[in-house]
Amino acid sequence: MKPLDPHKSDAPLDRFLPSVGVAPGGALFDGSRAMLTRQWTRRGFLRAVALGGATLVTAPLASPFGVTSAVAATGAQDFTFAVLADSHTMGNRNPVMKLRLEAAIRQINALNPAPDFVMYLGDAIHDGTPEQFKYFAEIIAGLKPPVYFLAGEHDWYLDMGEYYLDRFIRRPAPYYSLDHKGAHIIALHGSNLNDFWTVRRLTPEERMHIAGTVNDIGQGPFLLGKAQLDWIEKDLAKVPKDTPLLVFSHTPLYRYFRPWNLWIEDAEEIQALLKPFKTVQVFHAHVHHLVEHAIGNIRFHGALATSWPHPYPDTYHTLGLQGQMPRSNPANLFDGLGWQRGKVAARGAVTHEDILWTLAPPSIS
Ligand SMILES: [Fe+2]
Ligand SMILES: [Fe+2]
Repeated sequence: MKPLDPHKSDAPLDRFLPSVGVAPGGALFDGSRAMLTRQWTRRGFLRAVALGGATLVTAPLASPFGVTSAVAATGAQDFTFAVLADSHTMGNRNPVMKLRLEAAIRQINALNPAPDFVMYLGDAIHDGTPEQFKYFAEIIAGLKPPVYFLAGEHDWYLDMGEYYLDRFIRRPAPYYSLDHKGAHIIALHGSNLNDFWTVRRLTPEERMHIAGTVNDIGQGPFLLGKAQLDWIEKDLAKVPKDTPLLVFSHTPLYRYFRPWNLWIEDAEEIQALLKPFKTVQVFHAHVHHLVEHAIGNIRFHGALATSWPHPYPDTYHTLGLQGQMPRSNPANLFDGLGWQRGKVAARGAVTHEDILWTLAPPSIS
């Protein structure tokens, strides 16, 4: 067959969706060791789901590599969830972002069992405009499971969150909590910034541009801020310490790399609030690559983006961080991207799996 050229406008772009799946050899997060294991054997690839031109190969969540972080005798019931992040949809400015997000949606919709919910970790769109939000809303409406949203900086700094709060988060504040089958879930506003625009008399567009440029020092560091920290403290005060805690934030809740604002200024404060809990899993976005970290009992999992991958910063090795992904091939529309799914077991153990799209189809032999 004559190869299709994705740069020709008459080429149906989704024909370029490759056979996608986990990296050859597998990439499964082991909560007990805070590391990615790459030990899948033939038995690990038991299930292949055909997805309209794409093939998602997953290991069963009850795989021998799953689990076990600090296991608590909780009242938690088994459930699964999915994590989507950083789709940066731009409307016709870059329609490829739509194809990538739709690929993830198709895969999530095909999961069996279906996840109880999807947590969307922010940077849904790129420029904060109502037009881009409407475009994104039409795409994300294709997800079958219920979706919870939290904001990234690209969703927030044009209108200071007005549209996103009203149409997506649908709550009075950008941070909130809920209880689900014995687990406590908190969704945070990790992309909060101190006011850098008023004194400089910046327009909303200028503010959005600076906040959305990771290496623009004019935005200052991300921080949760006192009001949010006070709310977290109050919220967690009523939660038993052996309850599995799932924390979702756009930005990492530790100090990863300041020059690109992969960073939270009040890291010690939030970590101190999470420390008393037996099992704490923090899922964050913003970094656009796989990264795993552990501080005490707190496990941090960086989410894959569906838009584009970012390289690892200089501090990646000096911080002793873990995670692997192949160098993304710019000729492949889906390489180095993906999403996550996670499982909370009745015993309170939490595992997750990174669905990393790669150029090479997964090997089953
Ligand atoms: Fe992003
Ligand atoms: Fe971001």
